[in-house]
Amino acid sequence: SNKVRVLSGIQPSGRLHLGNYLGAIRQWVQGQDEKENYFCIVDLHAITVWQDPDKLRAQTRELAALLLACGIDPQKSTLFIQSHVRAHAETQWILGCVTPLGWLYRMTQFKAKSEKEKQESVSTGLLTYPVLQAADILLYDADEVPVGEDQKQHIELTRDIAQRFNHLYGETFKLPKAVIPKSGARVMGFDDPTKKMSKSEVGEYHAVYLTDSPDRIRKVLRRAVTDSGREIIFSDAPEKAGVNNLLQIYESLTGKSREEIEAHFAGKGYGDLKKEVAEVIIEALRPIQERYQVYAQDPAELDRVLAIGAERARAVAEPKAEEVKRRVGF
Ligand code: ADP
Ligand code: NA
Repeated sequence: SNKVRVLSGIQPSGRLHLGNYLGAIRQWVQGQDEKENYFCIVDLHAITVWQDPDKLRAQTRELAALLLACGIDPQKSTLFIQSHVRAHAETQWILGCVTPLGWLYRMTQFKAKSEKEKQESVSTGLLTYPVLQAADILLYDADEVPVGEDQKQHIELTRDIAQRFNHLYGETFKLPKAVIPKSGARVMGFDDPTKKMSKSEVGEYHAVYLTDSPDRIRKVLRRAVTDSGREIIFSDAPEKAGVNNLLQIYESLTGKSREEIEAHFAGKGYGDLKKEVAEVIIEALRPIQERYQVYAQDPAELDRVLAIGAERARAVAEPKAEEVKRRVGF
């Protein structure tokens, strides 16, 4: 088909949070009609840091159910689990052989994640994971990769790897581009607005998860770190990061303009802001949570959707992986 092809992935390494939803998933859902979509639950990526096997299995299924609940429609989009399609792991080996080590050491996410762990427990996979991500994308000849801002550098690396491979072995890969939303591209932690909201953070008041109850959402928002001032304005100033984060979430969920939002909150206090943001989040998550119950209670249907997804993904990825192998002389 002539449709723009989209590929994006998400790790089953924890519970889905508001940042994942606003930065990535909502874009996926919105583009479903006019684009050809491949959405991948990247379990191979998840094990770059330790995952309890039973928990990983459960989280992978929960994530699939939640993505469907968010509006991923298996009639329109291909939803699949990365480890079900062997071509990803196979191709990443070949791409790794054309990727200079220096390119990987430069990745800020590797630097950040490897600093958090003891040096002896940093896996090779944590370093080479962007190469696997390149394989994920390039195998599908994706035009677009809708992601949050934290993934921008990895998509640039994907392009570099594709270009290098094309240069060495002849035109094989399409160069994809990152598509980053205007608002919600970088949702910050409520407990520390200098850090992006992340599945791997453990603080009790760090994130809102998509399955959180209204009470928990209100509680997290009540404790959201702000500042000692009183101005409710969009701002890049470091000390306004907390307030700015709340306003960006509000903007992203209501679709209102910044002027409208600032006018709405003029004269109100941070307590009001937190309350209103909590309610907007609760309303946005309500229909997702209702649909989630339906999928969570029908494991057979989930298996069926994932089996069809894997089959459709293989139909694209396997011939591409064969082409790559031929190119390098296998
Ligand atoms: P996490 O970093 O929470 O483990 P993933 O690495 O699985 O999440 O990322 C899944 C998608 O969600 C990616 O497109 C990523 O850019 C996006 N994303 C992750 N965290 C945020 C955030 N705090 N704000 C906006 N988008 C985010
Ligand atoms: Na991430």
